[in-house]
Amino acid sequence: LLNKVKKQIYMRILLAGFGTVGQGFVEILRDKQAASPGAYDDIQIAGVATGSRGRLYHPAGLNLDDLLRISGTGDDTLADYPADTDLQRNWHSTEAFIRECAADVVIEATPSNLETGQPAIAHCEAALETGKHLVLANKGPVVLAFQALQALADEQNLAFRYEATVLAGTPAIATVTELLDDANVRAIRGIFNGTTNFMLSEMENGLSYEGALAKAQELGYAESDPSADVEGWDAAAKVVILMASVYGQSVALSDVDVQGITGITAQDITDAQQADERYRLVAMLDAAGGSVVLQRLMVDDPLYNIQGATNAIVFQTDLLGDVTLTGAGAGRIETGYGLWLDILFLKRRQML
Ligand SMILES: NC(=O)c1ccc[n+]([C@@H]2O[C@H](COP(=O)([O-])OP(=O)(O)OC[C@H]3O[C@@H](n4cnc5c(N)ncnc54)[C@H](OP(=O)(O)O)[C@@H]3O)[C@@H](O)[C@H]2O)c1
Repeated sequence: LLNKVKKQIYMRILLAGFGTVGQGFVEILRDKQAASPGAYDDIQIAGVATGSRGRLYHPAGLNLDDLLRISGTGDDTLADYPADTDLQRNWHSTEAFIRECAADVVIEATPSNLETGQPAIAHCEAALETGKHLVLANKGPVVLAFQALQALADEQNLAFRYEATVLAGTPAIATVTELLDDANVRAIRGIFNGTTNFMLSEMENGLSYEGALAKAQELGYAESDPSADVEGWDAAAKVVILMASVYGQSVALSDVDVQGITGITAQDITDAQQADERYRLVAMLDAAGGSVVLQRLMVDDPLYNIQGATNAIVFQTDLLGDVTLTGAGAGRIETGYGLWLDILFLKRRQML
């Protein structure tokens, strides 16, 4: 009888944002369900919202193959999802969609806005105010409204999780908050931006700054407006998130001392190489504050060998010395996996 009751409990997810990351997450869920029959059938995507391509909700869960089939580029919209009498499609906003749809968890994967955080902050408030757990890939609300969202979540005993916002699926947040929380993490350093690390690595291979930027854009690492990456703001946003989650410090982006890579020249790179050194855009923080600085690293630095679009984070602890994690900091499946880790956390703790 217990088994029967257990089987009837579903984790119904609303997905706000169905672009690269949202689709990566749905693909992971579909593939996990296929690879381990029965193990993940209790996780359902009940609703999906986009900005301009429609919104969908089905109380018994959407079909993941159908969803992924219509998520390609071009003219696909959620209107192409197969008709069904129980399917609902009409909401004037994503906030209304989140408030009105019955569900257990909201995943926020709409574009990051580091100035206002909107409309994502409104999506997060709508989720928590209507009793839904909150999982984010979107940095905006975590950078700009951490304390308020955490307080809202705590009031209602709901989860507020954001693994994917820092190093995508490389588990920086889970490692520091769940595994190293008793090791006295005195300070954190890292390479939190893959685009700039890729550009610096390419400059070491002989490209100019402009050539390295063009190659990063060609490969889809850098946006057409690359300022958030090359001016250091993306890395600074991750410093703010870690300051809040590790040290409980509420700091604004403007409190972080931020340097980008825009001033670096081919000559600087060559001079460093001749001394067996390397430039890296290094993010640093401790309980007192944070910064993002273009540093010349010596060969024995744990960040010296981080090449290309790879990210890394070094936790400087009292009990273990340095603990370093290296891995992807972006990408469709890689970031989808960050969301997956947070969803697994909820499932394993039966927070339905
Ligand atoms: N891509 C990565 O590697 C990566 C890594 C870490 C974190 N992130 C973060 O993850 C989030 C998603 O990134 P992405 O790469 O998936 O972006 P994306 O490909 O541009 O997709 C964004 C999605 O959000 C939808 N959207 C826009 N406004 C919306 C609204 N008001 N309500 C509902 N949906 C809305 C878009 O719909 P339309 O297409 O209809 O506008 C689209 O489906 C961003 O915050 C990003 O910073 C991304």
